[in-house]
Amino acid sequence: MAKAFKDKVLEGKVAFVAGASSGINLGIAQHFAAHGAKVAVISRSHEKITAAAKTMTDAGHDAIGLAADVRDFESVDKALAETQKQFGNIDIVISGAAGNFVAPALGMSSNGFKTVVDIDLIGTFNVLRASFQYLNRPGASLISITAPQAVNPSVFQAHVCAAKAGINMLTKCLAMEWGPAGVRVNAISPGPIADTEGMARLAPTPEMEKGIKSRIAMRDYGTKTDIADMALFLSSENASYVTGTIVDCDGGSKLGDAGADALGEFK
Ligand code: NAP
Ligand code: COA
Repeated sequence: MAKAFKDKVLEGKVAFVAGASSGINLGIAQHFAAHGAKVAVISRSHEKITAAAKTMTDAGHDAIGLAADVRDFESVDKALAETQKQFGNIDIVISGAAGNFVAPALGMSSNGFKTVVDIDLIGTFNVLRASFQYLNRPGASLISITAPQAVNPSVFQAHVCAAKAGINMLTKCLAMEWGPAGVRVNAISPGPIADTEGMARLAPTPEMEKGIKSRIAMRDYGTKTDIADMALFLSSENASYVTGTIVDCDGGSKLGDAGADALGEFK
């Protein structure tokens, strides 16, 4: 039977978004709230996450901001318990907390490498693992935010490449284990997204930005709304048979640029 895409597609749903004091994940949380979900957001900073939640309550939506560090299982569990207490069982979880810095492996201490693996990979395990007991089952949707570095090896990104590759595999393993309980587990791999901390760190100059755009099929950065729309679809009942996938939402940036210079002649 065809499933129509409703305007307030998340009405009556509860969403928990980790790493949402800014950027892509805050964009997802705001999009979910605008589509009817009650939304809990977490990050390390009480001040920043309270301000993030306020952007949604000021717009007339139900939202709470809770300080929690995804590296600490107990603090994530506490935030999930508080969300359940205030809003009820959780239907949607987004695990998007991440850390990045640009450094060669020889310029990275063991603790520097571990810090990114702890936030991105262990943090994602903690968020997904802790959330299971608070979920509305069957029907719940869990989404991790991965990155192109998971499959594209990159200089000065050994820590991120290793951590995000782990997230991709974790997504598939948990989809297999939790599918029988009616819980879907997917990941979104955004391409370069405009006005984000991630791209400010990876391409800090206009020249670098221009170079990156020249190698993207769509010739531009994506927007936070592009990723939020994909998260909305994957979290909705329209995606009820989608699990274990890593969805590229990247303007074709992984396709490579072989022959791209010759395209000018055919425009
Ligand atoms: P961002 O604004 O810096 O978002 C990262 C968030 O994670 C912040 O809200 C930060 O909040 C939170 N965070 C960091 N460490 C945490 C911890 N230990 N516990 C809880 N929260 C923590 O960056 P972004 O560029 O929007 O990136 C968001 C996600 O998209 C990341 O997973 C990133 O890898 C992915 N991504 C981004 C791009 C891009 O173009 N930007 C491309 C591909 C993938 P606090 O500082 O308040 O804790
Ligand atoms: N080059 C090399 N090593 C670096 C580094 C850099 N640019 N930045 C941090 N490190 C190392 C530190 O030296 C430290 O290692 P050490 O103890 O051996 O000296 C280790 O990383 C941890 O640093 P610390 O600042 O204590 O970590 P933190 O937990 O406070 O912050 C980060 C985590 C480093 C990832 C920080 O950049 C952050 O909070 N990022 C969140 C926002 C973000 O990255 N957004 C983009 C998402 S894609």
